[in-house]
Amino acid sequence: MVPNTDNRSLPQVRVALAGFGTVGREVVRLLQEEESRYREQLGIDLCLVTILDRSYQKKDTSGIPSEVRLTDSVSEFLQAPSDMIVELLGGSDPADQIIRTGLEQQKAVVTANKLLMAQSGKEYLALANQNDSYLGFEASVAGAIPIIRVLRRSLFSDRIVGVRGILNGTCNFILSEMGDNGLEYEEALSQAQSLGYAEADPTLDVSGADTTDKLAILSAIAFKAVVSPQQIATRGVTEIKPVDLLYAQKLDSTIKLLGVAVKASDHLCLRVSPFLVSNRLPLSNVSGVLNAVEITGSSAGSVVLSGRGAGGAPTAVSVTSDILNAALWKTGAKPSASQATSHHSSTAGEEDSGSSASKPISDKDERYPFFIRFIVKDRPGIIAELANILAERKINIDSVLEESCSDSSNLPFIITVKPILFSTVQEAVGQMKALDFNQIPPLVLPMLQE
Ligand SMILES: NC(=O)c1ccc[n+]([C@@H]2O[C@H](COP(=O)([O-])OP(=O)(O)OC[C@H]3O[C@@H](n4cnc5c(N)ncnc54)[C@H](OP(=O)(O)O)[C@@H]3O)[C@@H](O)[C@H]2O)c1
Repeated sequence: MVPNTDNRSLPQVRVALAGFGTVGREVVRLLQEEESRYREQLGIDLCLVTILDRSYQKKDTSGIPSEVRLTDSVSEFLQAPSDMIVELLGGSDPADQIIRTGLEQQKAVVTANKLLMAQSGKEYLALANQNDSYLGFEASVAGAIPIIRVLRRSLFSDRIVGVRGILNGTCNFILSEMGDNGLEYEEALSQAQSLGYAEADPTLDVSGADTTDKLAILSAIAFKAVVSPQQIATRGVTEIKPVDLLYAQKLDSTIKLLGVAVKASDHLCLRVSPFLVSNRLPLSNVSGVLNAVEITGSSAGSVVLSGRGAGGAPTAVSVTSDILNAALWKTGAKPSASQATSHHSSTAGEEDSGSSASKPISDKDERYPFFIRFIVKDRPGIIAELANILAERKINIDSVLEESCSDSSNLPFIITVKPILFSTVQEAVGQMKALDFNQIPPLVLPMLQE
């Protein structure tokens, strides 16, 4: 990874890496451990020249060769001669400045920053296009799963009609623990925290915001759509109770937090929500911290990829693959189809040249069967009142399930309804919320069946 006098004849690519944290450390390890294989197979001398980290002095940098300059100064980092910038700081500042500067200076830029890619990906792509630079961001969605490459390359020939996925390992772990072991939400969250699967402040994960950022990036690629995360209807997992997973089991289903994008004739339906997922669907089997993405092409049908969506080493694989492709691009060696991954080469060009349009997002065609859970103070006439509200909106009841419960002042039961528009069921549940027997507001979940 440092200049190698034996390889003077190979083209050299100088890499500047920002962020020596969970992912950055693993990228450096991979580049060092696989150095000779990369050099031999790609014919490029990759050379790590500088690392920016505000607290590098407190970290174990003993394995980093002395030729690599360590700095905590952003300006020194940006001034260091390099051909490629790898941004692994996270957050907005100074990550945004580093990405923009790299692109403006015609360097290859690789980032894993989902927050910035969701917010400013379109601008970065325009910058990359204007400056004939390169942007790789495979690791910004679903860690080790090469979803961006698959969407941009492997399935490019097909017309994508839907993308849905389990995009947050923390939420998937929490829901799996609640379903498998009957834990309350708070217990499952603290278990996730003690195992290092959830941050001390888990808000971004459990609120669904992290999934929303990733869905915005996927939608931009799958549908050439400019989607701001703020436009996506988002609900997290905090309202889910063990009883919901119990009733889901009775319905031969489980509960998963999904990001779902469906292409309708003239608009997109985008949603992040816990869904009741039938056990016959592949996403139902993806448990614990794993992620999975299901892409539906009009000709290919459904393609499912699953794997580790986070963690230093898995994420570093995606980052390093981007680095290698960026190096090939930088040296003029054309990446083979299987290696290409970036936002620079020809298929990426449509977005870069500005043909990506702002597609309207609407729930006007968003139709699902629904699961509605109630926890009530029991009294006669409850089902009749609820049935009336549903009937007024022509919503057909599919089933009513009530497990025996000794506490009649906190009685849980569920109603499932036949497919209906999201907006219609929300209206009905809005009216149901006002009824005096509710101990907590009813929970409505869309259902995915075969
Ligand atoms: N971890 C994952 O599993 C994963 C998965 C997919 C994508 N990502 C993305 O990868 C990126 C990096 O994540 P990570 O988990 O590696 O984060 P991390 O462990 O917090 O590492 C970030 C590193 O950058 C340093 N840093 C932060 N701000 C800085 C600044 N202003 N100036 C200089 N150094 C700074 C941090 O120093 P301190 O130690 O002092 O904070 C830390 O060493 C993020 O965009 C994240 O969303 C991560």
